Amino acid sequence: MDEPVSKRFHVTTFGCQMNEHDSERMKGMLGTLGYRESATREDADLILFNTCSIREAADNRFIAHLGEAKRLKAESPGTVVGVGGCWAQSVKDEVFERFPFVDVAFGPGQIHKLAEFIASDAITAQGFFEFEEFAGHLPTQRDREFQAWLQISQGCNCVCSYCIVPSTRGRERSRPAGELLAEVQTLAADGVREVTLLGQNVNSYGRDLRGEDRLSFAELLRAIDAIDGIERIRYTSPHPKDIREDVVAAHAECPAVCEHIHLPLQSGSSRILKAMRRTYNRQRYMDRVAMIRERVPDVALTTDIIVGFPGETEADFEETLEVVDEVGYDGAFTFVFSPRRGTLAAELEGALPHPVKKERMARLVELVQRRAKERSQRFVGRDVEVLVEGPSRTDPTRLRGRSRHNKAVNFEGTARPGELVEVEVSSASSQTLLGAERLLSRTG
Ligand code: 5AD
Ligand code: SF4
Repeated sequence: MDEPVSKRFHVTTFGCQMNEHDSERMKGMLGTLGYRESATREDADLILFNTCSIREAADNRFIAHLGEAKRLKAESPGTVVGVGGCWAQSVKDEVFERFPFVDVAFGPGQIHKLAEFIASDAITAQGFFEFEEFAGHLPTQRDREFQAWLQISQGCNCVCSYCIVPSTRGRERSRPAGELLAEVQTLAADGVREVTLLGQNVNSYGRDLRGEDRLSFAELLRAIDAIDGIERIRYTSPHPKDIREDVVAAHAECPAVCEHIHLPLQSGSSRILKAMRRTYNRQRYMDRVAMIRERVPDVALTTDIIVGFPGETEADFEETLEVVDEVGYDGAFTFVFSPRRGTLAAELEGALPHPVKKERMARLVELVQRRAKERSQRFVGRDVEVLVEGPSRTDPTRLRGRSRHNKAVNFEGTARPGELVEVEVSSASSQTLLGAERLLSRTG
């Protein structure tokens, strides 16, 4: 009988861009081991989950998926089930007690261990949760050839009282600057035009490095800007306490650094910010916004906000609304507070009733969208540079891409994915710009 040509894997990714990037590396690594990607879980010999633990909803969603893997494994016992990422790290070896059909579990820094496990034909379940090294050297299977992620650091030294990440991704470690610049050179030679720098707190990049491999975050932005072929640089996420003038100057002066800054507010109330251990207050946050707007007047600002932190009063919440109104964000991710195991905030008194959280969330979302829509109008009648991604998801006769301000743009045109084109914007909603490509202006 013929052996099957190659084994197949299926990866489901939850959570942030860091996880998306880790999944690309898992896929690349499995490719080098002779595995092929399968479109469905049913057809896979290796079912993988790259998990997130940031909020309870993320846990629950993943556990429902895991139930399906259990069923598939019961039907086909040779199937290997692997669970990686932050949820796995947060429960560690408990994974195997709670879900005995899981064969391998590994934390966010341990992707390379997956290869070891597979290559060893291990017959007992194994867990890998100690950070050893960056997986930066692993091959990646990128979704789009012209866009890439670059992990600049791992872990976080902040102590935000609501956040599980310091316990899942550990203390902050920066990758040496030389290694990062070499990686970007390779990416650029491979056709990448846009890189997104990833870290839990990108602005504190480099503080743990020594010698010639030490660059500050702003210096790193400038060094990447100087690499031929890289036309756009983005990054996520910064911490407002660490975004200093040197970084803002890089936005103002480096052609490739995009006019978009994600500046997570979390709350507009200084009292709640203190309980969150964010280390800035409302005034200092607003000072940062003013400094950014002065240096980069047209910048797009986006944010993250948590509603219903323990003890949040109506007056605290109204302060959040005031800040949202004053700043005028171009977009915001809004979250209902979710108590996470092992965090300080999970132990606080003053949990809010569900209907109060819901009502506040509805008011916040209404304001965020209204302000974002108002802000978007500044693009109408302007030409914006768009990096083309492909056909629009809602209307295949149109194209879709992103502007430098990180707005999704749907437009009429003939450009190919990966090209940079000028689009004349005719209308704008809170999230999306509509327009038409200016012909003859192509640069790609
Ligand atoms: N509950 C709700 N939202 C949270 N976030 C982080 N932890 C929690 C939590 N326990 C939000 C923050 C962060 C974003 C990635 O997720 O706003 O910036
Ligand atoms: Fe989820 Fe945070 Fe881990 Fe990303 S770093 S996967 S958002 S818990």
